[in-house]
Amino acid sequence: MLNEKMEEAINEQINKEMYSSYLYLAMSAYSSAKGLPGFAHWFRIQVEEETIHAMKFFDYLNRQGANVKLKEIQEPPMEFGTPLEMFKKTLEHEQFITRSIHELVDLAIAEKDHATNAFLQWYVNEQIEEEENDNDIIAKLKLVGDNVNSLYMLDNELAQRLPPQPATQGNA
Ligand code: FEO
Repeated sequence: MLNEKMEEAINEQINKEMYSSYLYLAMSAYSSAKGLPGFAHWFRIQVEEETIHAMKFFDYLNRQGANVKLKEIQEPPMEFGTPLEMFKKTLEHEQFITRSIHELVDLAIAEKDHATNAFLQWYVNEQIEEEENDNDIIAKLKLVGDNVNSLYMLDNELAQRLPPQPATQGNA
């Protein structure tokens, strides 16, 4: 069972994950329009990842008999600059999500909600991976610089990204 504060905070987090999904969908569209299908594909996979993140929270609220409250999803920007600028924005967004997950952990600890604290540890680890992925691509984009051939090769590499494993319902 969850208290009201925890329930509200997780509902907010569902909204942030859904916004993440929307933001990356906008980045996918932008990449397509710029002639970078591999980047577009990478962000489409990221959309799936974010939807899974939201749905894990959704399932958790249901399993705990708590109320799901779906909120309005903010409109994302549609312009992201160069590929490097776009990935810097992606990293900044993930850092924001990491802080948000850590605040949820802080709240779970303050409320002595051990079940939610245990559940959240999956997200703590996931955020390390999310930031690592962005940092890796930023490093590669810095090496690419203005070299169009290298950008083409990186686009091919990002086109290889595999979809996430199907989520087991309610299993963090
Ligand atoms: Fe749901 Fe990319 O963090």
